[in-house]
Amino acid sequence: MIITIDGVAASGKSTVASGVARALGVPYISSGLLYRAVTLCGLEEALAGGDLRVLERLEAQPPRLEPRAEGNQVWRGERDITPDLHATRIDAGVSAYAALPEVRAWVDDQLRGLPRPFVAEGRDMGTNVFPQAGAKFYLTASPRVRAERRSSERPDELDAIEAALIERDARDAAQSAPAADALVIDTGELSAQEVIDLIVREVEG
Ligand code: CDP
Repeated sequence: MIITIDGVAASGKSTVASGVARALGVPYISSGLLYRAVTLCGLEEALAGGDLRVLERLEAQPPRLEPRAEGNQVWRGERDITPDLHATRIDAGVSAYAALPEVRAWVDDQLRGLPRPFVAEGRDMGTNVFPQAGAKFYLTASPRVRAERRSSERPDELDAIEAALIERDARDAAQSAPAADALVIDTGELSAQEVIDLIVREVEG
């Protein structure tokens, strides 16, 4: 069984996906980390944002997603690139790569090849990648709430974080619509644990 948790930037998808995965005893997979890994490669190869040649540059050593319930890691060969994937420069550059159909197809192939069951989190897990998922959720919250949550993970000022989130939502809009059969959860007034409990209750029915 596959469970999908999609949502806008910094809506708490990873924390919630990890909690749900732990409660169910399965791994979760973070699709965003693969888009971030593509972006890191583009930056390190000094390509312009959204340059499709990034896929050729990745070929020699494609990023490998290692899903676990506690957290995901991304490897390129022997190098654990995970700590480099949450920088502000990756946040700023990722949407340009995620807009490329060829990049999306590459990420989708990686995800579909992973052993099931799992909880999948991202933007289009319930719509495009795993439309057959057994249960689908979509997380939202106001930009201010999301910026406040993310400010503990980034060195930038709150207003700058909020502006960047709003801009990234707009750039990601094409792949971010909730699935028609997803339960939409506004997490603004809820703790992460409350969202996790709500989803687990829904799944266990
Ligand atoms: O945690 P946050 O929502 O800030 O980011 P993420 O889930 O790691 O996603 C990073 C970026 O990857 C997004 O801004 C999208 O551009 C892209 N993405 C996507 O297009 N489709 C997905 N399924 C997941 C991420």
